[in-house]
Amino acid sequence: MAELLQLVLAGADERDLTKLASYREVGGYVQLARARGLTAQAILDELNASNLRGRGGAFFATGRKAGFIPKDSPQPVYLAVNADESEPGTFKDREIMARVPHRLIEGCLILAHAISSKSVFIYIRGEYLVEFEILRAALDEAREADLLEGVTIVLHRGAGAYICGEETALLESLEGKRGMPRSKPPFPAISGLYAAPTLINNVETIATVPPILELGGAEFARIGTPDSTGTRVFCLSGNVVRGGNYELPMGITIRELIDLGGGVADGRELKAVIPGGSSFPILTADQIDTPLSHDALAEVGTFLGSGVVIAIDDRCCMVQLALRVAQFYMHESCGKCTPCREGTRWMVQILEAVEAGRASQGELDLLLSVCDRILGKCLCPLGDAAAMPVASYVDKFRDEFQAHVDQGGCPLAGESSLEDLFAPVDQHSHDPVARVPA
Ligand SMILES: Cc1cc2nc3c(=O)[nH]c(=O)nc-3n(C[C@H](O)[C@H](O)[C@H](O)COP(=O)(O)O)c2cc1C
Repeated sequence: MAELLQLVLAGADERDLTKLASYREVGGYVQLARARGLTAQAILDELNASNLRGRGGAFFATGRKAGFIPKDSPQPVYLAVNADESEPGTFKDREIMARVPHRLIEGCLILAHAISSKSVFIYIRGEYLVEFEILRAALDEAREADLLEGVTIVLHRGAGAYICGEETALLESLEGKRGMPRSKPPFPAISGLYAAPTLINNVETIATVPPILELGGAEFARIGTPDSTGTRVFCLSGNVVRGGNYELPMGITIRELIDLGGGVADGRELKAVIPGGSSFPILTADQIDTPLSHDALAEVGTFLGSGVVIAIDDRCCMVQLALRVAQFYMHESCGKCTPCREGTRWMVQILEAVEAGRASQGELDLLLSVCDRILGKCLCPLGDAAAMPVASYVDKFRDEFQAHVDQGGCPLAGESSLEDLFAPVDQHSHDPVARVPA
């Protein structure tokens, strides 16, 4: 069985690391002190050597992105932390903030030093009130201990919109405007918050920076696979015995992760898995020996996304799943660009007809055509996030979709396990022994 390897969550099972004193006991803030004695370029060199790539979904090289921030900018330089975490199936950043808030703060301060920034904004999902309070208390402690050294860290609570996780919509929202994506270029590194150079990174990405400095970039790069280095806090959910966050080296297989979570619940058969988060193409049960790495998942036509695996058992109706996913994106489309605003509505209407048995022959092709008219034609990837998974469900489970049309309704109807699929999980269940249900 795969072994947990905790870098980001290290020490949190043994101690209450929300307290500064306990975080210091496990070497907390030592890397910050070291980093402040290094040049900005030396820190970027370590990040480049580590091949750390963004944990928010786009998997962009972190050191490279930080290197785009102009040196000697006449404007202020900002660091924006993406703690919006609203991709369905993703619940790792909340655990990082709740259990190792100081590691995130330490990562912020190291990155701020690396880009010569004095202002950090943490944009936290509005629903994460508990995490917000924990982070605020940790920040107060760090400030009182004079760890900030002139850097201001602002906690900003979002108001509950998926689109505000998209980096430029996040910046709009931070500026007090309605969260809608900007067209790119210019990229935030050149013109971001208040049109000033801004580095935007995900919570997990930033919390991985202190362990990278501790290990050294080259040593970190030996963990995982050559393209996907280090660990990931994988979010396992769906029809599994023990859903939760499991920090593991990248490159373990989907099967190994599901086994760590106790396998498929209720002795059912696995039908499919959603890797990456709801925005990404689905895999069938016979593909679960695929490693959880960027390249391996790309080879089978999908993505690592925000490090998610949602296991789907044989009771799940794929049309109902497609409808639920499409409804989410329709609701969350900000409406700024036409293909996403109109296309997601079309997708929902067609899928409602298919599920209710009202669809005529040919409507599955119409659905695929609508997906095709969205893909790659929107201002931001939200449209793709709706079209890609739904097109993949039709592609991989066409017989099931066709059966709805032919039989005039859902063969699984009330038997479908869709509700179980989206049941809340105990996010801290990465400790498999302590969390086995009674
Ligand atoms: C619709 C949409 C929602 C997103 N939501 C999030 C999110 O909640 N958290 C996140 O870190 N990145 C999210 N992203 C990705 C960000 O745009 C961006 O790539 C990321 O914050 C960069 O950080 P990283 O390089 O550390 O991954 C989202 C992207 C899109 C298109």
